[in-house]
Amino acid sequence: MNNDLANTIRSKVDIVDIIGERIPLVSKGKNFFGVCPFHDDTNPSMCVSREKQIYTCFSCHATGNVYTFLMNYEHIDFKEALKYLGDKVGIDTGSIKIAKKSTKFDKLYDAYNLSLKYFQNNLNSGIGKEAKAYLAKRSIDEKIIKEFEIGLSLEKRDDLTKLLTSKDYDLVTLNRIGLSSDDHDIYNDRIMFPLYDVNGRVVGFSGRIYKDVDQNKYLNTKETDIFKKGEMLYHYHIAREVCREKKSVIVMEGFMDVIRASTIGIKNTVALMGTALTKEQISLLKRLSNNIILCLDGDGPGQHATEAIGDHLLEQGLEVKVIVLPDPDDPDTYILKNGKERFEGLVDSAINFSDYKMQKMKESVDFRSDEEKAAYINKVIVETAKLTDPIRREVILKRLAKEFDIGYNTLEMRMNSLLEDKPKEEAIVIPKKKSTKKDKYTKAYEQILYFMLNKDWVITQVEKEKIIFPTEVMRTTCSEIIYYYKKYGIINVADFYTYVQDKENILTFLNSILAEDYVEDTTKDELFEYFKVIKEYIKKQEITRLTNKMKKETDPIEQAKIVEKIRKLRLGDS
Ligand code: UTP
Ligand code: MN
Repeated sequence: MNNDLANTIRSKVDIVDIIGERIPLVSKGKNFFGVCPFHDDTNPSMCVSREKQIYTCFSCHATGNVYTFLMNYEHIDFKEALKYLGDKVGIDTGSIKIAKKSTKFDKLYDAYNLSLKYFQNNLNSGIGKEAKAYLAKRSIDEKIIKEFEIGLSLEKRDDLTKLLTSKDYDLVTLNRIGLSSDDHDIYNDRIMFPLYDVNGRVVGFSGRIYKDVDQNKYLNTKETDIFKKGEMLYHYHIAREVCREKKSVIVMEGFMDVIRASTIGIKNTVALMGTALTKEQISLLKRLSNNIILCLDGDGPGQHATEAIGDHLLEQGLEVKVIVLPDPDDPDTYILKNGKERFEGLVDSAINFSDYKMQKMKESVDFRSDEEKAAYINKVIVETAKLTDPIRREVILKRLAKEFDIGYNTLEMRMNSLLEDKPKEEAIVIPKKKSTKKDKYTKAYEQILYFMLNKDWVITQVEKEKIIFPTEVMRTTCSEIIYYYKKYGIINVADFYTYVQDKENILTFLNSILAEDYVEDTTKDELFEYFKVIKEYIKKQEITRLTNKMKKETDPIEQAKIVEKIRKLRLGDS
């Protein structure tokens, strides 16, 4: 790997900008703070340092440089992160070669790729004529078939199973990964839509019936090691870039809806593949954008899901808008019937989720009944109190007062009492780094390593004093720091991160020391205080070792020699 290039690119971007494009950051003192995306939290526990060009979460201890952040946040590999940043600063990364990490799931991905090719071949051969006709009837042309890699499984066959067993896959595996059932293929005579993981790898299929048969419309791959339906969003890997540009993500129910929207150039879309929204899917959505536009089916269940999902997203602090489709259209049928412009119009005029909810509440009220009317007004006030913008609250209350001819003050009083119950929005409290319960020797060793990462003269001193660290990972970290410094002539935490990115144990260790309250700067005198602490530690270790040895020793003369050694060590101890 080319570290020089990685370092050059890194030096041309500011980690504060890159992270700031993805999560809101507030500046405080020298640093920036935001809600850490790597664990479930609402507090700003993540600190981003412009000076050091690294981030550190005080809570989950995630730390690293701009590359680590992008890799973890976007689920991309180092090469992709490098390319992304290289493109941003106009540096060509095309020549970079990085050995791809092989994973224990490679064989699974391969099986899915082979299956994909097999299904695509079927659809494009004579046997796929009827399926092609069905797709054409649904206005899915060759271009879409290619783009979304649509294929076909064959009627009651075992061709795929045979193909895969001939490639060294055993039946047990094929059954386990959801491609075969006993010794035949799982998918029979269905149009096959590949499902992708966040990195765009095929990890499953959804097969749709296309003839008049009495079967479930769609058959999905069962959950496997690489396919967890609740942890994916259809089209995520494509939407990722587009959503950043458009600053919003449109959420649909079915992947057919997403495919249709794509044909009219709307690609900041994902499909839930069902109407329940999981925690993992919310966290994926957050990565795409803070502005969510719900565009679910116009039918009853779709409306119901809009309310439930909207509430959920609102609680997560996201901006939620709603596109209302006429019952029973879904985005697919709506676009087919009304065309691109009309659908774009709907997207542009998406309404706020809170307005949508209030509209919905109104629909079921019998306004001739005073009780229902009062209950409705109360509900609207409850919803309004949830809004953070005081101007919007006032606008809604004024409208309500006018509509029902009620004094504005009465409504305001009711809302204020609700607002008082609500926990106040607190000024941002930046959490302090917590000091963990490590003993003073461990802390001294770690502090020395931390000095080494920040001040090159400390590296020289450590070498000169021949400091030996007590654990394997400390020793390797120390020698990597020394090596890095000799090679590059400077030490820099952010670039050191890139350098050790494949060394899992060092990374974990770095994370644990960066989460501590260690200081960066020191003087020579102070440093020697630390050296003293660890020398004392080494002495203590030696005394313990000798004491044990003495206890085991049977020869009194030898014993006396050891006692003398211990005594000498203790003397120097004072
Ligand atoms: P829909 O029934 O709304 O799908 O289900 P659709 O997009 O309108 O499909 P077409 O137009 O009839 O072909 C939405 C999603 O729910 C999942 C699928 O992922 C689908 O995209 N679903 C639906 C199933 O998994 N199984 C089913 O039997 C039905
Ligand atoms: Mn639908």
